[in-house]
Amino acid sequence: MNNQPIGLFDSGIGGTSIWKEVVKLLPNENTIYLADSKNAPYGEKTTEEIIELCIKNTEFLISKGCKLIIVACNTATTNAIDYLRNHYSIPFIGIEPAIKPAALYSKTGAIGILATKGTLSSKLFEKTTREYAKNIITIEQDGEGLVPLIEAGKLNSAALNQLLSKYLKPMLQFNIDHLVLGCTHYPYLIPQITEIIGSTVNIIDSGEAVAKQTKAILEKNNMLSNNQNINIHQFYTNTQTEVLSTILSDVSLNFKVDKLDF
Ligand code: SIN
Repeated sequence: MNNQPIGLFDSGIGGTSIWKEVVKLLPNENTIYLADSKNAPYGEKTTEEIIELCIKNTEFLISKGCKLIIVACNTATTNAIDYLRNHYSIPFIGIEPAIKPAALYSKTGAIGILATKGTLSSKLFEKTTREYAKNIITIEQDGEGLVPLIEAGKLNSAALNQLLSKYLKPMLQFNIDHLVLGCTHYPYLIPQITEIIGSTVNIIDSGEAVAKQTKAILEKNNMLSNNQNINIHQFYTNTQTEVLSTILSDVSLNFKVDKLDF
């Protein structure tokens, strides 16, 4: 048993979509979430820059005593997870775009993938697509501009809807039946996305799978918490706290959001 917290980090608020699934499945765990919003979007940075930011985030969470770290960001995972696993001894869980289930269940033989430039150009993404989607058509789209709007809390803005229409409508011409959300910020756009692509296209994100994987790794390493007290969920952001607090407003758990000079 290990009652130390689970750490999560993201380039901002998007990884909270993963955090929500993790605390649903693992209600005895304490968590610490780091939103590196000051450096968002990671998707426009080089691999070297992303690795450097991931080291900084990891060192912070380790200094807070985290027993396992969830890299709750697709761009950070696809560019830096190998480095992190090779340089630190605690377990890391990464977020990979759910290409495998989408390809497996596609009936039309065509799937759409919306992700950042940093994810789409990564070696890990290329390897996953080659391995699992070689026999189907994949329509890849860089979601440039979406993350900054989400980070600014402009979820229902005309600018965001225009970008989504521009990115998603062309995919429909290829008769896609699955859309993979390859960025942890994007699940917050599901209502707007459904409005554009309709309800017959299956939208897949990685939240539930990541929560299950986290549980399995904790179990395997005998690291699950047996904490009987009220859990503490601590959020840190290095920009203003308001957007993070708003995105967590549907959460009924005991959490605290603090600004960090980071
Ligand atoms: C970004 O910071 O560009 C997006 C994060 C992600 O890929 O999940």
